[in-house]
Amino acid sequence: MTPAPAPLLRLVGVTKRYPGVLALDRVDVTVQAGVVHALTGENGSGKSTTAKLIAGAIQPDGGHVEFDGERRTIATPAEALALGIVSISQELTLAPTLSVAENIFLGRLPRGRGGRVDWPKLNAQARAILEELDVHVDERRAVGELSVELQQEIEIARAVSSSARLLILDEATSSLSEAATARLLEVVEQERARGVAVLMITHRMPEIYSAATVASVLRDGRLVGEVPLPGTPEPELVRMMVGRELGDYYGKRRLSAGETVLEVDGLASADGQLKPSSLTLRRGEIVGVAGLVGSGKAELGLALGGAIPNVGSVSVLGAEVDLSTPRSAIAGGIGFVPDDRKRAALLPTRSVAENFSVAWAGQLTRRGILDVRGERRRVREAIERYGVVTASPASRITTLSGGNQQKVVLGRVFARGLDVYVLSEPTRGIDVGAKSEIYRLMQELAAQGAGIVIISSELPELLGIADRIVVFHRGEIRGEFDAAGLEEEALAHVAITGAPLEQAA
Ligand SMILES: Nc1ncnc2c1ncn2[C@@H]1O[C@H](COP(=O)(O)OP(=O)(O)O)[C@@H](O)[C@H]1O
Ligand SMILES: [Mg+2]
Repeated sequence: MTPAPAPLLRLVGVTKRYPGVLALDRVDVTVQAGVVHALTGENGSGKSTTAKLIAGAIQPDGGHVEFDGERRTIATPAEALALGIVSISQELTLAPTLSVAENIFLGRLPRGRGGRVDWPKLNAQARAILEELDVHVDERRAVGELSVELQQEIEIARAVSSSARLLILDEATSSLSEAATARLLEVVEQERARGVAVLMITHRMPEIYSAATVASVLRDGRLVGEVPLPGTPEPELVRMMVGRELGDYYGKRRLSAGETVLEVDGLASADGQLKPSSLTLRRGEIVGVAGLVGSGKAELGLALGGAIPNVGSVSVLGAEVDLSTPRSAIAGGIGFVPDDRKRAALLPTRSVAENFSVAWAGQLTRRGILDVRGERRRVREAIERYGVVTASPASRITTLSGGNQQKVVLGRVFARGLDVYVLSEPTRGIDVGAKSEIYRLMQELAAQGAGIVIISSELPELLGIADRIVVFHRGEIRGEFDAAGLEEEALAHVAITGAPLEQAA
């Protein structure tokens, strides 16, 4: 029998408050040496806050941290490093003007006589690590010139080359390719076998199940529980994350699709990212669009929204739509919400009310004079209807949480009463509560007869909300599925390979 692993890190009743948010509420987590421990939960559940606390980037407002059996204050990232706590986060922390080798060995550069950096030695050491990790890049290049994916690999190289005792990976695979993810998981296993404790933060189920033997689940800043893996079935883990059954979470309604509302015929983007693609959508239907980054799914949204140059033919209720500008797309009946709020023309210095008003600008005039009272009433109704939590309609939009800003962005498009809505990553980076409300709004619009296209990188989201799912691969639609009874694996296979899964004989 192997001896029980020693607890390396313990968070005891840790609490962290931000203005208006209890990011962590009396959380207990114990991480053992030689164990990969998954920390999971929906967006906004407190995972990164936990990581930052352990890595000395922020301090708890309550509770305490124990490391190696001793109570500790980890006051700075340098103190964390000195304890052997190394973290790789979503936000890259590399120095862009320094070389790959310098970044890997930052703070521990090999020095020769007179304290000068021993460049040949530095570069040779860096090369050895890069080779071991199978990363192909010149160690003398400046990091700022590299792709995000390569930069992430450099962070990984830095982490594994420092003698870490606790490795924290905060969504470290989010910008990695499949192959690089697999390599990282191998590295994680090697480190674990050497006795390193690994805290792996992710909400990607396949990674959790392939790498971790225990998972702690956070929801709205609270620890829901700690469960063994793979002994806990995935639906159970997901239920812990979202706090309710998925069917309920997505508020799925019964589909009663009507006449064809949108007909896309050979639509292509001028830049070639979207090849001629065809698709139909009926009233009341929600169609999901899946695909990897660069598959053309984002361009489908942008083209339908008139936001990028495109060719092809698109009609709404039989009438051809001019997709040369966002304005003409809306005039034709297509409301598009892009995937980032800045692009969505949120007016950051303006109030919630003003941000709503732009949606119906020009509609509310009486003989050319703005109807102020009508305007106020309409803003109040919109705030209520779209569930926007704000101190007042006059509050500056940027004081709202991301989820509430997104409800304004969506609400002012929905308020136009169009026939077709095209939403690109509508729930990216927002908390579970807001997500669920946005799903509810989408279901309501569909029930009222709109056709909705949702483009998303989250397959579980598409499976939860869409009636039908199309999958893009290298600019083309390579699969189309009824969402009922569909498995995530089948979708992922088409997205990655462009071909459907072989049917079992
Ligand atoms: N610096 C900050 N200021 C204010 N609120 C924050 C800050 N960092 C995180 N939060 C809030 O704390 C909660 C938890 O965030 P986070 O730990 O980043 O979640 P996760 O990593 O699980 O997505 C969220 O509601 C988030 O908006
Ligand atoms: Mg996070």
